[in-house]
Amino acid sequence: MHEFKYIKGRLYCEDVKVEDLAKRFGSPLYVYSYHTIIDHYLKLKNAFSSIKPLIAYSVKANSNLAVLKALVDKGAGLDIVSGGELYRAIQVRCPMNRIVYASVGKTEREIEEAVRRKILFLNVESLQELESINRISKRLNTITRVAIRVNPDIEPKTHRYITTGRLTNKFGIDFKSAYQILMLRRALPNVKISGLHIHIGSQITDASPYSAAISKMVDFIERLRKKGIELEYLNIGGGLGIIYNHETPQTAQRFAKRISPLLKRSGLKIILEPGRFIVGQAGILVTEVLYTKSTPKKKFVIVDAGMNDLIRPALYDAYHQIFPLEIKGANPRRTEKVDVVGPICESADFFAKERRMPKVKSGDYLAVMSAGAYGFTMSSNYNSRPRIAEVMVVKDNVFLIRKREVYADIVRNEIIPAFLLGL
Ligand code: LLP
Repeated sequence: MHEFKYIKGRLYCEDVKVEDLAKRFGSPLYVYSYHTIIDHYLKLKNAFSSIKPLIAYSVKANSNLAVLKALVDKGAGLDIVSGGELYRAIQVRCPMNRIVYASVGKTEREIEEAVRRKILFLNVESLQELESINRISKRLNTITRVAIRVNPDIEPKTHRYITTGRLTNKFGIDFKSAYQILMLRRALPNVKISGLHIHIGSQITDASPYSAAISKMVDFIERLRKKGIELEYLNIGGGLGIIYNHETPQTAQRFAKRISPLLKRSGLKIILEPGRFIVGQAGILVTEVLYTKSTPKKKFVIVDAGMNDLIRPALYDAYHQIFPLEIKGANPRRTEKVDVVGPICESADFFAKERRMPKVKSGDYLAVMSAGAYGFTMSSNYNSRPRIAEVMVVKDNVFLIRKREVYADIVRNEIIPAFLLGL
């Protein structure tokens, strides 16, 4: 469910006509529905009400401060992966005891910031990282809570680029090594291993890989308990899939029903790190048709957004539905098969291939759907294109939450050395 719907042939976001937004803020444009974001957060929270987990929203999916603030105000925590994301969490005043930090490559400086701030815990992905955290905590005269990220070697049945829980992936630590690290814990007195973490992948539409991974974790936790190792948290990561095309992902309710008994068996406090599930359906990318052209083999619809604005189709061959903002009066039989492409000089710069769509013409607007997660956050200035604006709609109110960049922003940090200027 989301708050994008047609009313009398025009696409609306909550109570606002999307075309009015495109005219007011320009194109291309990211448009987010506040209520869709909050609804999805609450759906998950309510589904797991018997467990009361900490829902740590995964900042990487959509890190706009307004999105973070909206969720933190409703009680969400944040799952971060860098010093930059910690900075964002601080900007929205997220309580530090609701922040968890995962990354295989945390730098000394990033670790120090997280240690000083006393976040809930750092998810450790190697012995060397654990030793660094111990050393830095000793220097700062403190004890830092950590969780071991375990790699449960589970196939999540998703795109290989977003599979993270196989032993061929760089993430986490295998069970045997995790066990050895836990046995070493007394040699590392400035860290307290207080939990275990898994994240098996993203856009997972079925609960089975989760059950399989969590079962393995519960067995491991029981084994540790027998050895006198008591933990406090089990973090099961994110990865819940959404509908982009014809997927039939599990609902939050069904997912919770399936895995809650296992989670209860662990006897630990539970953490979830959903990103896409919360924001994916809550955003669209609005783009204007610049030209249409036919070659002897194809028909192209050339739009003003590019792969620098939404890279998912280029990178993962991801499917996004594309709808015209106006279907009023359109003849549903007048469809054609087209490639929807951007202006960038790469053949991977496409949003759809061989897609049957209603006929569109120059000046029409299109909505690339389900673009709220990994849309803006993965955008870049490639081809020296200013990054686009983001707006948030709350019923009939509209808020600009990121200004469109201007050309000066693109070159702001660049320096021509004096010798090139002949000085
Ligand atoms: N926790 C950890 C440790 C993660 O690495 C991720 C995502 C999440 C949570 C949130 O996963 P989610 O619930 O959003 O699936 N750019 C790709 C997705 C990359 C996911 C990276 N890790 C895409 O556009 O499909």
